[in-house]
Amino acid sequence: MNRSRCLFSALSFLSALVVVACSDAEKGSSGTSGSGPENGNAEALPCDVDKILSTKCQTCHGASPKFGAPFPLVDRSDLVAPAVSDPNKKVYELVAARARDTARPMPPPPTERLTAAELAIFDRWIAAGMPAGKDTCVDPGGGGTIDPPTLSCTPDVLLAPSAPYVMPKGVQDQYMCYGVDVEIGQKRHLVGIAPQIDNSTIVHHILLFKADEASPSTPTPCEGGDIQGALLSVWAPGGKATELPLEAGFPLEGTAHFVVQVHYSNIKGLDGQQDSTGFNVCTTTELRPNDAGIFSFGTEDINIPPHGSLDVSCDYQFPRDMGAISVISVMPHMHNLGKHLSSNTVPTDGSEPSNLGLADPWNFDNQIWYDNDTILRGGDTVRTRCAWDNPGNRAVEFGERTVDEMCYNFVMYYPSQEIELTTPTDDASCVTTK
Ligand code: HEC
Repeated sequence: MNRSRCLFSALSFLSALVVVACSDAEKGSSGTSGSGPENGNAEALPCDVDKILSTKCQTCHGASPKFGAPFPLVDRSDLVAPAVSDPNKKVYELVAARARDTARPMPPPPTERLTAAELAIFDRWIAAGMPAGKDTCVDPGGGGTIDPPTLSCTPDVLLAPSAPYVMPKGVQDQYMCYGVDVEIGQKRHLVGIAPQIDNSTIVHHILLFKADEASPSTPTPCEGGDIQGALLSVWAPGGKATELPLEAGFPLEGTAHFVVQVHYSNIKGLDGQQDSTGFNVCTTTELRPNDAGIFSFGTEDINIPPHGSLDVSCDYQFPRDMGAISVISVMPHMHNLGKHLSSNTVPTDGSEPSNLGLADPWNFDNQIWYDNDTILRGGDTVRTRCAWDNPGNRAVEFGERTVDEMCYNFVMYYPSQEIELTTPTDDASCVTTK
């Protein structure tokens, strides 16, 4: 039996590659290229455009880009420059496209998308030939930095690598893992997790697993499928810390094995970048009333025909003698071909179904724990629907590699139940349309 492996090796979305061509075309980001006709600065942007970029983009695309963003979006010259990923296009063309891209939006989640009004401002500016700004803009504030979230508890454990990761200049995109073993002894509850970001220039996002076994303490290349254990926390720029409700904590006893996975991005090919990013964790001997647990809905019975699609709905009914469980959060998970994942209760008494997770359209880059406060009771049925399109020449089946597919909806809940709830997926009855 290999259930926890199925559960969390599922996270091979981590191995998605950001395919952006490399360019050494570094350029200055401030207006040094001489005088414009109007007010002496051809680099200035009109204030309405400037405001959008400074509030929604420059947290990453600032004068020194952060979190793997490949270029600044500060001056007019940044927008009219050739794009890194496609030198035949200008950056402003990609901006217009990515701001509307539902699958890979900019800004990326959890940062708010551009509003229709903001998109219209941008479109009007492009249509007008991208004139330089004439006014001095008031700093709209609000942009600036993304601060990693803080915890309401006081962290007592720092999970960090035993040596920093040194990112080679030629590597654009890399997943690294390291393990940390913590001697717990008598039972404690883990109640809070927050990222400890070291080098924000190259850290794209990070994950924390409670692993089944010890891993090397130095950063080692890895993919999601290499990690066997439970995914406790995910952080991407703008995301929250993980805090458990006062009713529950994740049980830790004896030696706890943790694995931290960091997704690095260095599209610009910067030299000499190092990083020791990790997590701060709160544990306590003042045990909460309940142990928290994680299980998943979904199915492993997946076969998507070449040049075809698959739409599958699976019903899982909880054992009738199960007591009520409280959901804390949910995290849909598929791979690259996924289009839709949803999970909801199927009430028999005519009441409204409770939403247990919705990803439509599915976005490979947006895998976070969503807050959820559904109560599930013995005998309740949950329906989980997954849909995929397969443009390729070969059938795609369930599997852990990114080229395989998955349909899991992870659920963090309490009180923790017996093993048969680990992967209800095995006992679900599914209906398929191809
Ligand atoms: C949380 C950080 C973050 C924010 C905020 C953000 N970006 Fe990005 N951006 C990235 C990263 C990382 C990449 C490279 C990976 C990718 O293309 O998805 C990127 C890539 C891009 C690209 C593609 C570049 C190429 O050559 O393909 C465009 C265009 C872009 N961003 C525009 C924007 C705009 C416009 C905004 C604001 C409206 C914005 N971004 C906000 C992090 C961010």
